[in-house]
Amino acid sequence: MRAPGHEATLNIAAVSARAGQLLSDFCSAIAGLRREPGFRGIGRRGMFFFYATVWPLAPRQILESGRMRGGSTLMLARCFPQARIVSVELDRDPTHAAIAEAKLKPYTNVDLLYGDSREILPARLQAGDAVLIDGPKEFRALKLALRLLRTGKPCAVLIHDFHPGQPARKFVEQFWPGAFFSDNPAFAVHLRELNLRIGRDPNSKHAVAPFVCLPGGLPAPYSILLLRIVWARAVSIAVGKIKRLPRLRR
Ligand SMILES: C[S@@+](CC[C@H](N)C(=O)[O-])C[C@H]1O[C@@H](n2cnc3c(N)ncnc32)[C@H](O)[C@@H]1O
Repeated sequence: MRAPGHEATLNIAAVSARAGQLLSDFCSAIAGLRREPGFRGIGRRGMFFFYATVWPLAPRQILESGRMRGGSTLMLARCFPQARIVSVELDRDPTHAAIAEAKLKPYTNVDLLYGDSREILPARLQAGDAVLIDGPKEFRALKLALRLLRTGKPCAVLIHDFHPGQPARKFVEQFWPGAFFSDNPAFAVHLRELNLRIGRDPNSKHAVAPFVCLPGGLPAPYSILLLRIVWARAVSIAVGKIKRLPRLRR
């Protein structure tokens, strides 16, 4: 089931086709922002994929899981000034919290919450919301996405750090038709253009951590997808442990 009123087509071809027209507005929204050195998180290029995907869906609310020092939250607040941004962070580290809170204080469209997004987000989810998950990661993120998408409410769930070859990505590639990734070559042309606009080498080989976009609705019944995720995660954990075993001496 799809959320009502959000009819923009969601696939990599449609997002790439729209991205060129959105680039100038995105650059204006993020003007002057830079990632804090020494802290990994969603960069401007990653956020442009989120923007190009989500802006045409016009969500009234965006839920964010995993804020740390608020770099991505700040970009959301500036890129989606008409939307309410609900950002949840598990870690109450006082330094990170103080930095995020100071950064976001001027933005009245942002709610900063503390706790486990797996408990908080299902209760905050409204029809038509977009969701950004940057923690938890991998299969845990996928389980959270599945739980939210099952309600039929989100217009899309985007998960950060879905690198090629990772077990969770392989799972999505196999079992989630309709999902698409920001590292698709169709989108690369826009990242080159963005690099130019933000003063980076347009052909920079510096890798951008990819997003996966899961459009609203589920591609298979919830219980089947959940069982498959639980099984695939268990297998990937077992394989990881076996690979780390010291070689037995003869
Ligand atoms: C990579 S950091 C987020 C960086 C931030 N999105 C940015 O781009 O600046 C991931 C964060 O997710 C948080 N996290 C992990 N599991 C979480 C959960 N279940 N609920 C809320 N936050 C979680 C971690 O504490 C960590 O601060």
